Amino acid sequence: MSKITYDYMEDYIRGLIPNREGRLKEIEDLARENGVPIVQKETGVFLEFMTSMKKPKRILELGTAVGFSSILMYEAAGTEPEIITIERDEKMIELATSNLEKFNLGHKIKIEKGDCLEILEKLNEPFDFIFMDAGKGHYNHFLPHCLRLLSQEGIIVADNVLFRGMVASQELVKRRKITIVKRMRTYLDMVTQDEKLITSVIPMGDGIAVTKRR
Ligand SMILES: C[S@@+](CC[C@H](N)C(=O)[O-])C[C@H]1O[C@@H](n2cnc3c(N)ncnc32)[C@H](O)[C@@H]1O
Repeated sequence: MSKITYDYMEDYIRGLIPNREGRLKEIEDLARENGVPIVQKETGVFLEFMTSMKKPKRILELGTAVGFSSILMYEAAGTEPEIITIERDEKMIELATSNLEKFNLGHKIKIEKGDCLEILEKLNEPFDFIFMDAGKGHYNHFLPHCLRLLSQEGIIVADNVLFRGMVASQELVKRRKITIVKRMRTYLDMVTQDEKLITSVIPMGDGIAVTKRR
């Protein structure tokens, strides 16, 4: 149970999503079978929708895992975007590198190895689409850098912002997750209360927040 929406609703919506085919399906299936935390099905479709609408030329992703969402965004954008994706786990980097090679995308999708915050501090070129999907307890720390790096018309999509419902309901909060939950609430306050930004929070998957400048 996701504790974000009703199970019957989630099952129904997932049932509407056609199965993927080909090599991306293989990557998705393998990741799900092995418990690699890739985007939920409906979040994947949302990402495809957003990137196909926005048609970004440069995408920044926090959290590569095996490269599934990077490839998904690359294919949906239709602009052959340059993607920089950040990952600190050596095993994930190895698997993602091999997956990108299978798609012949090693030259378009660059994995920056290391901690998101450290890499963010070093980046300077603007991005027109930023997908935050790593370090749930640090989105509030990542945000100032993401805003610095966001082009004037750019969009930030942040996944897991409702974190199994805990962000919205104190009753659901597990003790060991208190810090993540508090910091995620801080992130949501930052993006919703800043009058220069407009943010829509969507109770889909594990919760998504879409932010742009007003
Ligand atoms: C949810 S997974 C990313 C899934 C991927 N976006 C997808 O849907 O295909 C998060 C990844 O971020 C990595 N990660 C977590 N915290 C990080 C940090 N502070 N810096 C860099 N990578 C981090 C984890 O190792 C994990 O592989």
